[in-house]
Amino acid sequence: MIPSLPVLALGLLILAWGQTFQFQDSVFIQFLGLDKVPSPQKFQPVPYIMRKIFQYREAAAAAGESQDSCYVKDLGVRGNVLRLLPDQGVFLYSKQPSQASCCLEKLLYFNLSTTKDKEQLTMAQLGLDLGPSTYYNPGPDLELALSLVREPPGWGRSFPKPGKVFVLQTVPWPQGVLHFNLLHVAKDWNDNPQKNSGLFLEIRVKGDRDPGVDSQLKDTCARLRRSLHASLLLVTLSPEQCGPSSRKRRAAIPAPQAPCKNLCHRHQLFISFQDLGWHKWIIAPRGFMANYCHGECPFSLTTSLNSSNYAFMQALMQAVDPEIPQAVCIPIKLSPISMLYQDNNDNVILRHYEDMVVDECGCG
Ligand SMILES: *[C@@H]1O[C@H](CO)[C@@H](O)[C@H](O)[C@H]1NC(C)=O
Ligand SMILES: *[C@@H]1O[C@H](CO)[C@@H](O)[C@H](O)[C@H]1NC(C)=O
Repeated sequence: MIPSLPVLALGLLILAWGQTFQFQDSVFIQFLGLDKVPSPQKFQPVPYIMRKIFQYREAAAAAGESQDSCYVKDLGVRGNVLRLLPDQGVFLYSKQPSQASCCLEKLLYFNLSTTKDKEQLTMAQLGLDLGPSTYYNPGPDLELALSLVREPPGWGRSFPKPGKVFVLQTVPWPQGVLHFNLLHVAKDWNDNPQKNSGLFLEIRVKGDRDPGVDSQLKDTCARLRRSLHASLLLVTLSPEQCGPSSRKRRAAIPAPQAPCKNLCHRHQLFISFQDLGWHKWIIAPRGFMANYCHGECPFSLTTSLNSSNYAFMQALMQAVDPEIPQAVCIPIKLSPISMLYQDNNDNVILRHYEDMVVDECGCG
């Protein structure tokens, strides 16, 4: 169960007051949708698309623009978590003479276990980076074939058993990144993890040239094997954070803009990830201005503003019956932040979190 914002706010307040209480690391970690504090061995390069989205979001937040954290504009899909999974597969070397036209064979494997059960997969894009451009004649046309692995290699068999080819395309100029939509495949893997035995990637030479004899072809294939880099970009939607009820706000009266000293108003609070020791896994930002609400909500303040909302009624009732608690100082306008981080599986994750920054406080 992900704790609600008040729990988080409490944690932050405790931190802000610097009292003897310990900041609840675990609470915040859970809130971020993680099981434990990640401790990656080394930082992975952040893919261009994630950097771009992160920078765009930061700029929008700085400009005070409202943004939908549950929609990824650059990709045109709904989602609040972006993950880049590195390929954990291996190159295969077949020695069968019938495979003379084979240039490269690789088992691609992506461990999808980091996605949570409740997350809804909205995009899965395989990226095959064939390496930098070359200035020399790229040589013959190559053909790329992708199939699902039906049975992984093992127990006496060094080769996986590939299923039906579902992508077959000509690669006239083997360089740059090729993208393939794997949403259906990834959904199936997500629902049935035991079915995920990986993908079988084969790059073949069209025609009847033989890389074993043709030296230019041999060079091209060797270069491809050196530079080939595969990754899987996943976009998911967390129902807890992007469900229909997640944007509901408690009705509250906004506190005055120029606050009296003890009256309910917004206080500045910067959460530094460095101070928490989280810079070891959070790539960006270095921290964020979370702020918090604190102050009194006396009857005079609640009634001084015209409002027919619940807080007004509560204040009214409290004046009559002291048993009824006073309205409290709470956030009434919040904005999201984006975080780029890395988990223990070397996945780079970009995630948007709703309601992380207190913009306005009020009595409610
Ligand atoms: C996938 O990752 C999980 C969590 O790190 C791990 O427990 C599991 O063994 C991995 N699966 C494979 C097949 O590598
Ligand atoms: C409150 O509402 C009344 C009646 O609509 C109006 O006359 C008055 O000016 C309002 N006061 C403020 C502070 O907006």
